[in-house]
Amino acid sequence: MLTINNSKSSQGKRESAFKFDRVFDYTTQQEEIFEEVGKPIVADILKGYNCTIFAYGQTSAGKTYTMMNTKVSHGTDNRGLAPRVVEHLFDSIDKADPNLEFTVKTSFFEIYMERIFDLIERKLESLILTILANKVNLQVKEDTSSKGFYVDNLTENYVSSDAEVLNYLKIGNANKKISSTSMFELQKLTSRYEQ
Ligand SMILES: Nc1ncnc2c1ncn2[C@@H]1O[C@H](COP(=O)(O)OP(=O)(O)OP(=O)(O)O)[C@@H](O)[C@H]1O
Ligand SMILES: [Mg+2]
Repeated sequence: MLTINNSKSSQGKRESAFKFDRVFDYTTQQEEIFEEVGKPIVADILKGYNCTIFAYGQTSAGKTYTMMNTKVSHGTDNRGLAPRVVEHLFDSIDKADPNLEFTVKTSFFEIYMERIFDLIERKLESLILTILANKVNLQVKEDTSSKGFYVDNLTENYVSSDAEVLNYLKIGNANKKISSTSMFELQKLTSRYEQ
């Protein structure tokens, strides 16, 4: 049980308690995390629920490895949650009732310096303008009818196989590296420009 004490709470109730369902120790294999976390989530998605897998932790804790690793190394399947989840998602869609129709879309963004950036269609001009004008690039909006919270104007691509999703992951990861480098260069430029 994890208890969080919020001394600034205005509602009087200062303590919130959260229960752990499971703690995985350092001997845990990727496969096991997928069986416990990934599989049930795919089942819930197919029932129509909104689902999130969220990794949080200090640097080098293993978030990227656990979530995104796509490599099979030393003959062992060390793939992380994302490739396993999408593979299982499309397998499950193939096996589902043929009267049901599914559409799958992907998008990939990063939050950097409190701004949201599209990692699939990274528009350099918009990146430069954003920094120069010090304004918001993409915005989080809420649709109260069905969509819930979403990022407005984010690129969404229809996908029909896990290979397609993995390809977008690759594109996004490559853009991530470029964008942080360009952001750094741009910030140096703008600070010089403003002096
Ligand atoms: N379970 C594991 N088995 C083997 N290697 C691992 C494991 N978890 C993490 N690593 C390795 O440890 C290093 C740090 O892990 P990773 O990059 O996933 O951390 P991170 O939490 O994403 O850090 P950051 O916040 O800096 O992005 C990487 O080289 C990764 O390959
Ligand atoms: Mg990481």
